[in-house]
Amino acid sequence: MLTRQEILDPTWRLRRTRRTKALRRMVQENTLAPNDFIYPLFVHEGAQRREPIGAMPGQFRLSVDLLPAEVEHLCRAGVLAVLLFGIAGYKDARASYAVRRDGVVPQAIRTIKRENPEMVVMTDVCVCAYTDHGHCGFVQDGGTVDNDSSLRVLAEMALAHAEAGADVVAPSAMMDGQVQAIRETLDEHGFVETAIMAYSAKYASAFYGPFREAADSAPQFGDRRSYQMDPPNAREAVREVLADVQQGADIVMVKPGLAYLDVVRLVRGAVDVPLAVYNVSGEYSMLKAAAEKGWIDERAVALEMLMAFRRAGADLIITYLAKEAAEWLKDS
Ligand code: PBG
Repeated sequence: MLTRQEILDPTWRLRRTRRTKALRRMVQENTLAPNDFIYPLFVHEGAQRREPIGAMPGQFRLSVDLLPAEVEHLCRAGVLAVLLFGIAGYKDARASYAVRRDGVVPQAIRTIKRENPEMVVMTDVCVCAYTDHGHCGFVQDGGTVDNDSSLRVLAEMALAHAEAGADVVAPSAMMDGQVQAIRETLDEHGFVETAIMAYSAKYASAFYGPFREAADSAPQFGDRRSYQMDPPNAREAVREVLADVQQGADIVMVKPGLAYLDVVRLVRGAVDVPLAVYNVSGEYSMLKAAAEKGWIDERAVALEMLMAFRRAGADLIITYLAKEAAEWLKDS
């Protein structure tokens, strides 16, 4: 028998509000819903081309004509936004395909906005998929990635996307000053309403491996450590985020997600702007691989992981699981 003292002590008995599903729902501190998700889409040239991405089971590279059906499906599932990644028609040192007004990304934006105007269209702004060397900026003679000369092409690429009707541009090159350069260029051309989601705290991570196959964007020499963040650093992420907010970022991001939940929490406490987290390709592929082997309950693990991003403080989750998770949430 419990003593009266034990029964009255509120710190002692914690199970009362866990007893039934309804009670658990009432005391639930965080929520997860399809409108929290942003779905990445890989777009390539051609027609009727749906190419599976080997290292990302269930993900495809799609030609522009296949996008409306995909977007329609997402809309019905309650997903509000897509994030577009283009696969270059050709590559060169200056990433000239990235700024073409008739490139796959501008075409994709126009098509989605025509067929499904309510879908929020976000676009990745980085040149790594468009440069022949695979770096996120211009490479100088010595092989270093130059910061300031890369800002112009990023701003021009963002402008091309804004002109085509993108709602949000998302600079991911990790060049210092990229948000300011893009904001100024957009404003000068009258695109004051186009928002910026900054990949603010983007780490030099091995979790991007499968993505680089998908976007054909692996660096041909060296790595991205001179511009992306060093994984041991957390305080520096706050400086990155504050700099981007000061430069005009409307939404900031932490990337990758799972191994960086401490950073999500830290950033959440530092700024009031909406915060996104990127549940990256490697995180997705690990889940899929373990599920394929029958080692984990895919659906339960996926939803637990997505809720963890929300608990850590993320408002938005960029995830390849968006479509499936939206369905799972319907009947959970
Ligand atoms: C472009 C970019 C990358 C990702 C998003 N934008 C790759 C990289 O920085 O190498 C990774 C996304 C993922 O792994 O899902 N710079």
